[in-house]
Amino acid sequence: MKIMLKTALCLMAVVMLAGCERPPIETVQTGFRGTGMEQIYNPRTLAKQASLNTAPAAAEAASEDGPKAKDVYKNVQVLGDLSVGQFNRHMAAITQWVAPEAGCAYCHNVQNFADDDKYTKVVARRMIEMTQKVNQDYKAHVAETGVTCYTCHRGNNIPTQVWTAPKDRLYANSLLGDLAGQNMATKAAGLTSLPSDPFSPYLMNAQPIRVNSNTAMTGVGANANRASTKQAEHTYSLMVHMSESLGVNCTYCHNTRNFASWEESRPERVTAWHGIRMARDLNNEYIIPLTDQFPANRLGPKGDVAKVNCSTCHQGAYKPLYGAKMAKDFPELQTLAAKP
Ligand code: HEC
Ligand code: HEC
Ligand code: HEC
Ligand code: HEC
Repeated sequence: MKIMLKTALCLMAVVMLAGCERPPIETVQTGFRGTGMEQIYNPRTLAKQASLNTAPAAAEAASEDGPKAKDVYKNVQVLGDLSVGQFNRHMAAITQWVAPEAGCAYCHNVQNFADDDKYTKVVARRMIEMTQKVNQDYKAHVAETGVTCYTCHRGNNIPTQVWTAPKDRLYANSLLGDLAGQNMATKAAGLTSLPSDPFSPYLMNAQPIRVNSNTAMTGVGANANRASTKQAEHTYSLMVHMSESLGVNCTYCHNTRNFASWEESRPERVTAWHGIRMARDLNNEYIIPLTDQFPANRLGPKGDVAKVNCSTCHQGAYKPLYGAKMAKDFPELQTLAAKP
């Protein structure tokens, strides 16, 4: 009996500690003394992250001399001003970043490279423009570090971290009605019971990300005061996603004595503010309009296309690829190409 009790206690201890991280854990101060603004790091997680966040080496730059791609090829709509050498270097790079296994044939009918028959080529052309847009117009977020296809794709046809709207789920007891995406412990909400889709309201639609309100909880539909308890839960869910994507705590951006105060926040919160607008813009202007191109097996349970959130680029690092400046080796991705 005693032995059984001891075994049971040991088992309980194992179960209860399973969620804890084994020491040592490192703490780095990020705010003023006494504000408790600190980052807590697990060196083992960092080591694993480091190996996942190494940028591939770029091929040597090609000469800009010689005939231009638009004069030699038949159907070049975006990269026409590159020399043929630069154009081919670009094709080799995107193959390495997006389709290293399938190669050129992932996007091309190799009997006729000018053909636009494969949807992947049509999508890729728009993705080139999207990457140019980020590097040109979102410097407030990506700075001179910038992005390439690799930032999101990392050698995969589809980036590993994307989101689609989850299925509506009802309580088993239908009297309780709609679950409102809660109590499901999804990865999106950091395994909390918070709403599992913080992305549709904030990274596609532009609902205010607020929990404090100076006005009464009135209004209906689009005019409703969004700072109700229920909406606040969506805000917290987004904040958990943002923290997890960057591998940081809330204090990386906020002084937690007042989450709303910008004066007391770190400058990184401003960078994040721009990142929210950028993700929204990429989803609405570039990715959602491509929905019809994708075959059904690429779409989510509600038929929507896989979209961008903070993890798509960051993948657990405070800067994607720990700030490796790989974009500078691809000047053709720095500015939106002039339309011919
Ligand atoms: C991820 C998709 C993708 C991959 C992989 C890819 N390409 Fe392309 N390719 C494109 C896109 C998009 C265009 C059109 C670019 C534009 O409109 O500016 C293009 C255009 C071309 C053209 C111009 C054809 C013409 O006459 O209009 C050639 C040649 C070409 N690619 C060669 C290659 C080779 C060789 C490889 C393999 C090393 C390759 N591509 C891999 C997407 C891809
Ligand atoms: C900000 C992140 C991001 C960047 C940067 C990015 N992509 Fe994508 N890419 C996505 C997302 C999200 C999808 C959508 C996946 C889906 O719906 O299946 C996608 C899909 C694609 C697809 C379709 C794959 C398939 O099999 O269905 C191709 C091809 C592609 N991207 C090429 C590129 C190229 C080439 C570049 C660089 C010029 C690039 N992407 C840059 C996020 C990105
Ligand atoms: C990477 C930076 C960053 C991290 C990490 C972060 N936040 Fe935020 N937070 C922001 C930004 C930016 C806003 C404002 C968003 C907007 O207005 O578009 C915000 C807004 C908020 C608000 C709403 C304040 C108001 O005005 O009503 C709360 C509450 C909040 N965050 C809580 C948290 C919590 C809790 C965590 C940790 C789980 C966290 N945040 C992690 C950047 C961050
Ligand atoms: C298109 C890719 C991309 C997406 C999507 C993206 N980021 Fe970033 N982010 C970057 C790059 C690149 C940097 C590095 C900029 C630099 O070197 O200063 C960065 C830097 C940051 C920083 C500054 C870190 C520091 O210590 O200076 C914060 C905070 C941040 N991102 C938050 C976010 C949040 C929150 C989201 C989602 C709402 C997001 N990012 C979405 C590419 C992205």
